[in-house]
Amino acid sequence: MNPALTQFGEQMSHLTGVRAIMKDIIETLRAGEGREFINLSAGNPVILPEVEQLWRDCTAELLASPEYGEVVCRYGSSQGYQPLIEAVKQDFNRRYGLNLSDRNILITPGSQSLYFYAANAFAGRTTDGELKRMVMPLSPDYTGYGGISLVPEALLAYKPTLEIDEARHRFKYRPDFNQLAIDENTGCVIFSRPCNPTGNVLTDEELKKIADLGAPYDVPTIVDSAYAPPFPALNFTEMTPAFGGNIIHGLSLSKAGLPGERIGIAIADERAIQILESFQTNLCIHSPRYGQAIAARAIASGSLSEIAETVIRPHYQEKFVILESTLDASMPKDLPWFLHRGEGAIFAWLWLKDLPMSDWEFYQKLKEVGVIVVPGSTFFPGLREEWAHKHQCIRISLTASADELRTGMQRLAKMTESVYARAAVS
Ligand SMILES: Cc1ncc(COP(=O)(O)O)c(C=O)c1O
Repeated sequence: MNPALTQFGEQMSHLTGVRAIMKDIIETLRAGEGREFINLSAGNPVILPEVEQLWRDCTAELLASPEYGEVVCRYGSSQGYQPLIEAVKQDFNRRYGLNLSDRNILITPGSQSLYFYAANAFAGRTTDGELKRMVMPLSPDYTGYGGISLVPEALLAYKPTLEIDEARHRFKYRPDFNQLAIDENTGCVIFSRPCNPTGNVLTDEELKKIADLGAPYDVPTIVDSAYAPPFPALNFTEMTPAFGGNIIHGLSLSKAGLPGERIGIAIADERAIQILESFQTNLCIHSPRYGQAIAARAIASGSLSEIAETVIRPHYQEKFVILESTLDASMPKDLPWFLHRGEGAIFAWLWLKDLPMSDWEFYQKLKEVGVIVVPGSTFFPGLREEWAHKHQCIRISLTASADELRTGMQRLAKMTESVYARAAVS
């Protein structure tokens, strides 16, 4: 069957960004039977034994409780399972001195769906036909934002400024406030903090400045906190989560060990929550309740935030240190390579300035030596202008083992040396 597709059908029946690359990676792994690849492309979190045990214990408790039937044999409210809403409210009010009520919280099936609702409720065409933009203040950012708007032209990303430490081969992106425009044509603003793919953490001041730009126009500022404290707490630098005003704070339990259960949480102003909740009712009625019920237990007991700080964060932070020290020891000192400062998330982001080939070709070269990374150009959704930098970066996942990371970075260093040397000769 080959049905005619609508505009939305066209848009949604294609994979965008990293999901399209994943197809090539899966085919490479399949075709390379018998060949050992070091796969540094994964975004799937590591199954950490302590984290798995936490979810097993919460499940055993749920199974043994009279609540079980109520959880899985009944429909519930669109807003979410009440004990989970209550646990989030209590935890965040206590932890951050907030005054949240139930009406400020919405549970969604994964945070990706939350961003889909928000992108289409706030940005796109208004009833008058006017185009409202979804602004990404600092590109590169999460590739998944590239596919969430039903009106792709609504997406508008801004080039950052670069803070470069030449001697130490490090760099950091900063929002370019001289360019960034958030005004009556903006429908919403979105960014991840900590950022996938770069590990960047916008400072508290930068976040406030961005949210303040949108406040006079009532523009929702969506802060995607998939890696933020209190869970999964994948910040390696100090940061304070922000709430209130025009901020929609988006949480995800995926990197806290529950990606299969699909749990996202929005914390925002009551009116914004009502809009997103209606979107959800129309789409899927409500999120599955089993995952919500075990999450309620893990949050209410304090176990989730504790395990995030004592197990999840140290695991990935150690991996970043291994990657960083291996690169420092093995990358050629005289070449312009720059590692983004590792401030959080589960990835490292490497910029190879003046790379004499595209990031896609470099990705293919690394495959030849058994290393798979993700070419960086997929992480610039909404950035329309040409920029050589877009084709000079790669994302390296910290989900591999320490040995794999060491060997992978040594092979990467050799390949870097070889491609720059070949370009110098020819
Ligand atoms: C920055 C960011 N936001 C959102 C998501 C989607 O997460 P979820 O599993 O909650 O839908 C991801 C997934 O990797 C992510 O990296």
